[in-house]
Amino acid sequence: MSSSNQHHQNIPSDIACVSDYRHYAKQILSDPIWHYIDGGSADEITKAANRTSFDAIKLRSRVLCDLSGASTQSQLLGQSLAYPFLIAPMAYQKLLHPLGEQATLAAANAQDIGFVLSTLASTTIEDVAQQYHQQQVESPSPLWFGLYVQPDWCDTVNLIDRAQQSGYQALMISVDAPINGLRNREQRAGFSLPDNVSAVNLSNNNQDNTNYNQYKNPVLARLQHSAPTWQTIEKIIEYTDLPVIIKGILDPQDALKAQAIGASAIVVSNHGGRVLDGAISSIDALPAIRHAVGEDFSLILDSGINRGSDIFKAIALGANSVLIGRVALYALATAGPMGVAHALKILKDEFELTMGLCGAKNIAEITADKVLL
Ligand code: LAC
Repeated sequence: MSSSNQHHQNIPSDIACVSDYRHYAKQILSDPIWHYIDGGSADEITKAANRTSFDAIKLRSRVLCDLSGASTQSQLLGQSLAYPFLIAPMAYQKLLHPLGEQATLAAANAQDIGFVLSTLASTTIEDVAQQYHQQQVESPSPLWFGLYVQPDWCDTVNLIDRAQQSGYQALMISVDAPINGLRNREQRAGFSLPDNVSAVNLSNNNQDNTNYNQYKNPVLARLQHSAPTWQTIEKIIEYTDLPVIIKGILDPQDALKAQAIGASAIVVSNHGGRVLDGAISSIDALPAIRHAVGEDFSLILDSGINRGSDIFKAIALGANSVLIGRVALYALATAGPMGVAHALKILKDEFELTMGLCGAKNIAEITADKVLL
């Protein structure tokens, strides 16, 4: 399997919205890589629900509004966001383009959009940080680290230390994938990582060589031995000076628990439908979680964002901001950093247009009465 794809030198002229990149990415990528990126888990019911739920939400348009002084600016965890979205932590971006995460970061920096680097990135924590710090801007958009807790505590601490020393400003801990989802599509396509793409940040990790098949319940045994618990997250919050964001919550009880142990924010997410098939769509989970945590707690949403209007809907239903996932990868595969920058610009313009046509002058005015469920 190879990750050297035929990228376009220019942005194809018929790309009008970010999901148009999907069609090009499918042509460009090898089948196994395509299915790894595009696929959800099992029957992809949750992946599909992420879209149908967004589509079912109607916008209330308003006319003749005075938009003087309109702004898309907001604050999140003490940082300034030019637009209320960031690039989600996504693994192995060199599968899509030789420059991988550095191409996506270049686009994010150019568009003043925040970036979250995955533990499973194919570029090092330090290389990404160095590129980020080279920007000559007064208040750069956020650079956060997407942490996967490692089975060995020392390995987890090592990742946290590296992120903190390199100047990442928050830790976003993914807690919804303690074990891989049933990735049937990638199994059928025979996906495995090509030789030139790997989780470079984990190369010195201690290996877990346990043979879980010796247990009566091998999957549960693996989870018991190596998956984090609430205590692990509490330990991390105690250990680090960085704000901790817990990613992958769909249940209001879990949201309350995250809040109680001192998380600074949570990401309402089903991992793009990639872990538990049958789980509720993120946008359907959001209102109850906002209700549970109160109006001042920071909530981020991901899974299913394809349009600027989706970002608007998520904010109306209680999110402070959202994460952009697969669509950035489709653009990366198609036209590298230029493609990602273009996709981000499209989302910005669509978001502004939605604000304008719904009569919201700023992020605070994107309230629940702007949508109909
Ligand atoms: C995935 C893991 C790596 O979704 O987060 O593929």
